Amino acid sequence: NARIVRTVADLRAALAPHRPDGIGFVPTMGALHEGHLSLVRTARAENAVVVLSIFVNPTQFGEAADLAAYPRTEDDDVALASRAGADLIFAPAVAEMYPTGFATNVSVGGAITGTLEGAVRGRSHFDGVATVVAKLLVAVQPDRAYFGAKDAQQVVVVRRMVADLDLPVAIRALPTSRDADGLARSSRNARLSPAERELASVVPRALRRAQDAFADGIRDPLRLRAEVDAELAAAGLAAEYVEVVDAADLEPLARVERPALLALAVRVGPVRLIDNVSLAPG
Ligand code: PAJ
Repeated sequence: NARIVRTVADLRAALAPHRPDGIGFVPTMGALHEGHLSLVRTARAENAVVVLSIFVNPTQFGEAADLAAYPRTEDDDVALASRAGADLIFAPAVAEMYPTGFATNVSVGGAITGTLEGAVRGRSHFDGVATVVAKLLVAVQPDRAYFGAKDAQQVVVVRRMVADLDLPVAIRALPTSRDADGLARSSRNARLSPAERELASVVPRALRRAQDAFADGIRDPLRLRAEVDAELAAAGLAAEYVEVVDAADLEPLARVERPALLALAVRVGPVRLIDNVSLAPG
């Protein structure tokens, strides 16, 4: 199994001899599934050393209940990450990342954090993400860091922060890993009952319906969103949001004439499902 370290000092000592070889880094909150492991496998193929972090970051959670209910499966995570190719696991306690007196916040401003998840969860969500990812990148100092397109807005926010702070790391975004019915894999899916899991398959169907409309030449975001809403409504669901935005800066689009994202959030039982597809005009 991969070695586990719990402090930044031990992490740095373990990595020091390997720095020249090239380090790949996969930040996670644990409860690892195939989506996380696909990131580890790509990191394995592209780097001499692979570090995976497991840290359920309290500052990016809104509701205390969501944080409390977040699955924690460290022993399984270590075994899965090791098998997928991780060499070192950084699993710090909250007090290691946020010791008494901690007072710094990394806040990415503007439309990219105000829209979509930022509009629903508040900007403090992405402040929490940006701050912890900055700390993790500085702790690990990887050559490449791996993120999933499932959290497309998170990728845009992290890329902005890395550019703005001149952090010397390449950000790699990899495709969303999906179950057989198309549902995006997510640690929170474990909280769906069998009936809710069945119902959740409407989400990939709705996204595919919008992609089909796009392939048929529909470029009006209102019409694309209506396809999604209709599919969800047929299953008795209503989205928290369905938006068509510029893929690079997440600004709303009046027509899809540049690479775009269609992103949605919908609540199914106790879980907020988020997902997106890219729309690329030919
Ligand atoms: P977490 O939700 O554990 O996700 C860790 C990484 O796995 C993220 O980059 C996420 O986009 C990716 N991921 C999750 N589900 C995926 C899927 N189905 N297919 C592909 N990739 C997937 O995202 C976070 O943790 C946190 O915000 C973090 C970046 C660790 C900061 O706390």
